[in-house]
Amino acid sequence: MSPWNPHSWQRFPAMQQPDYADPSELEAVLARLRRMPPLVVPEEVDRLRGLLAEAAAGRRFLLQGGDCAEQFKDCTPESIAGKLRVLLQMSVALTHGGRKPVVRVGRIAGQFAKPRSKPTERVRGQELPSYRGDLINSLTADAAGRRPDPARMLEAYFHAAATLNHLRALTAGGFADLHHPERWELPGATGEVPEYRRTLDQVRESLDFLEALGGVQRDVLERIDFYTSHEALLLPYEEALTRWVGDASAYYNLGAHTLWVGERTRQLDGAHLEYLRGLRNPLGVKVGPSATPEHLTALLDRLDPTREPGRITLISRFGAAKIGSALPPLLKAVQATGRPVLWSCDPMHGNGVESAQGLKTRDFGAILSELRQAFELHRLHGSHLGGVHIELTGEAVTECTGGSEGLSEADLAKSYETGCDPRLNGTQSLEMAFLIAEMMRG
Ligand code: PEP
Ligand code: CO
Repeated sequence: MSPWNPHSWQRFPAMQQPDYADPSELEAVLARLRRMPPLVVPEEVDRLRGLLAEAAAGRRFLLQGGDCAEQFKDCTPESIAGKLRVLLQMSVALTHGGRKPVVRVGRIAGQFAKPRSKPTERVRGQELPSYRGDLINSLTADAAGRRPDPARMLEAYFHAAATLNHLRALTAGGFADLHHPERWELPGATGEVPEYRRTLDQVRESLDFLEALGGVQRDVLERIDFYTSHEALLLPYEEALTRWVGDASAYYNLGAHTLWVGERTRQLDGAHLEYLRGLRNPLGVKVGPSATPEHLTALLDRLDPTREPGRITLISRFGAAKIGSALPPLLKAVQATGRPVLWSCDPMHGNGVESAQGLKTRDFGAILSELRQAFELHRLHGSHLGGVHIELTGEAVTECTGGSEGLSEADLAKSYETGCDPRLNGTQSLEMAFLIAEMMRG
């Protein structure tokens, strides 16, 4: 294999890249990005790799979640705190019910680029270039809005920095402290999850008991670890956030703690795998219906030649109807390699349907079914599911049907906010977490 460097990907075919009209404008943006301070530091990346290795060994559980696509306009304190809150609430449900510490990774602070199935889309009768995420173009449905604009990369960097700054301030400032019940309330407009209230009461009682014994230090409870992730899609942007770290003698992408490669860009001889293979970061790989056992084992050889624990998270995303036949051959193939990978399940991307009114939606029941099958299939084949990957928001949106609020297709239009795929709302997310915790116990 030829030597790797942060731009060696440019010699390989790159899917899903925009055409920028003006190369000098692009270069000016990238030059500026390369001089910017990194968003995360290598020590955090290394710590996350260690936590993921423990999840692969069955001692922790990975909760990865957030927007399908973050939008610049949603970089608000309410939206950021809402997503952090729902992920923390879910992790309490998972830790308490599943009896395992949870590794929290947001699809946040940089999840601004979207792969698209088609280069154009029809919006209100007009055929336009597809929206590719705020990192690349605008959701505004006209020709100017859909033009790829390199200046958006700088905007994305600053929005990611502002988001991460707020997340860091909240987590360091006691936002997660269970002693402040008001911070743990469900958003007013959403439904009740009765189990949640009981769990919080039980957790608080246990904590009071431990504190009375002198067993826990308060500051341990007040501070939590929270990591960031996004899809490594727009390679010039990712390259500009790639930094040489002398202490480790390695390159890191310091725009996020971990990156994943999507279902549409994981070609063996493609630019995305070439870029990712040279990074020290832990990497996610989406594994959908098109993956064969041969492809997957070759991909693992490429991305993880040294078989490092924590390096690779395989994120299956088949859909409830396909997982039963699609996952087992891949499980067996990976097992035969003896590799210590972490398996996670994305029950969202294989379960998209169109509502009678023409909105993209996903049903709570289908999402649940794929998760149940994933847990069972892993058990049946002597493997274990060590994480979940979910598109969600803290807000009371109506994008996915089902759940205890009984959202129907007719309800979807009430609060359909997503710029891309439908997300579980705060209540649906928390309900799902309790159901996952049950599945974790077997
Ligand atoms: C995503 O996670 O938003 C996504 C596009 O997933 P996939 O690559 O699995 O389709
Ligand atoms: Co999505």
